[in-house]
Amino acid sequence: MEAKHSDNQIGRARVQDTPELEAYYKELETLGAGALWTVANDIEPWEPRSSSVPMLWKYDDLRDLVLKSSELVTPEQAGRRVVYLVNDKRKDVSAAVGWLYTGIQVTKPGESTSAHKHKASALRFIMEGEGGYTVVDGNKITFEVNDFVITPNSTWHEHGCDVNGKTCIWQDGLDIPLVNALEANDYAVYDGKQQVEKPTNQLSNSFSASGLIPADFIWNKPYSPLFKYSWKTVYPALIESLKVNTVNLFDGIIMQYSNPITGGHVMQTLGASIQLLPASFKGKAHKHTGSFVYQCAKGKGFSIINGERFDWKERDIFCIPSWALHEHHNLSDNEDACLFSFNDLPVMEKLGLYQEKNYEENNGNQII
Ligand SMILES: [Fe+2]
Ligand SMILES: [Fe+2]
Repeated sequence: MEAKHSDNQIGRARVQDTPELEAYYKELETLGAGALWTVANDIEPWEPRSSSVPMLWKYDDLRDLVLKSSELVTPEQAGRRVVYLVNDKRKDVSAAVGWLYTGIQVTKPGESTSAHKHKASALRFIMEGEGGYTVVDGNKITFEVNDFVITPNSTWHEHGCDVNGKTCIWQDGLDIPLVNALEANDYAVYDGKQQVEKPTNQLSNSFSASGLIPADFIWNKPYSPLFKYSWKTVYPALIESLKVNTVNLFDGIIMQYSNPITGGHVMQTLGASIQLLPASFKGKAHKHTGSFVYQCAKGKGFSIINGERFDWKERDIFCIPSWALHEHHNLSDNEDACLFSFNDLPVMEKLGLYQEKNYEENNGNQII
């Protein structure tokens, strides 16, 4: 049966104010109470509602200011030397969109930080530089441009760039606003730097792109043992997939970074995907719950979000709020475009809150 959406219908709050009711509300207020019907229609929307707005952060505009931070403060002074990206409507919780945080971090050759940990989960997508590394729970992981790296909830982690490297810039993604909203965050500082006792990249190199998992491998942690997903294996996988799979109408070729042990998301609260939009791809519009932060890893194109066009190219970052209509287009007719994104889908799925809806009007594309 088709649901009705009118606040004037039976089943919705429809009480007219009277002097007697207003006095009653005041009396309730003095006791730390209230009448539900005065707020019910607001706190129970007909459809998912986001207070975030779609936003695009142009890398060309931000890059110089990000680099400038490396002249103004040291990583040790700043704790984490990051320029964070904040949604116009989520400044109160330092979120880029919904309950997700994102920032751009710079590390110069020879710089490194002491380790810390927190209940918020973190991930990184590498934007530029050479010789960058992170140490996660004693595992040293080196990374290159477009690699994806995770530092799960409560793992000790520190970052650095080799003396002979080139200034590294990467995007951080965390669920700090979510964990704060749940009043469950914490933060601890390690005394110095971690001991690295295993071969560099041991975990990520132990698993083969051919699907092989070490037969005697025991892993009982609630996150992926892969820690790093290298662009040099990810991009060929997208190209091979394009040859044999039907292109998704909304997302082109889209792959989830996954935990090879479970096939599920890489971490308990944050998920991430990489997608390839073939040359001239014109995606259809849809909407779903979950907040998304994107970074263009390759190529150029645009996304239409709630009827507004956002043009992006390599390294630009943009966000799609929960339940916002969106569609992606590749502007090139001879090159593919790739979009990295991270999201809160593991939370939405575990809580049974995920839903999606395809846009049916105008052949599935929005009018700007
Ligand atoms: Fe951290
Ligand atoms: Fe989508």
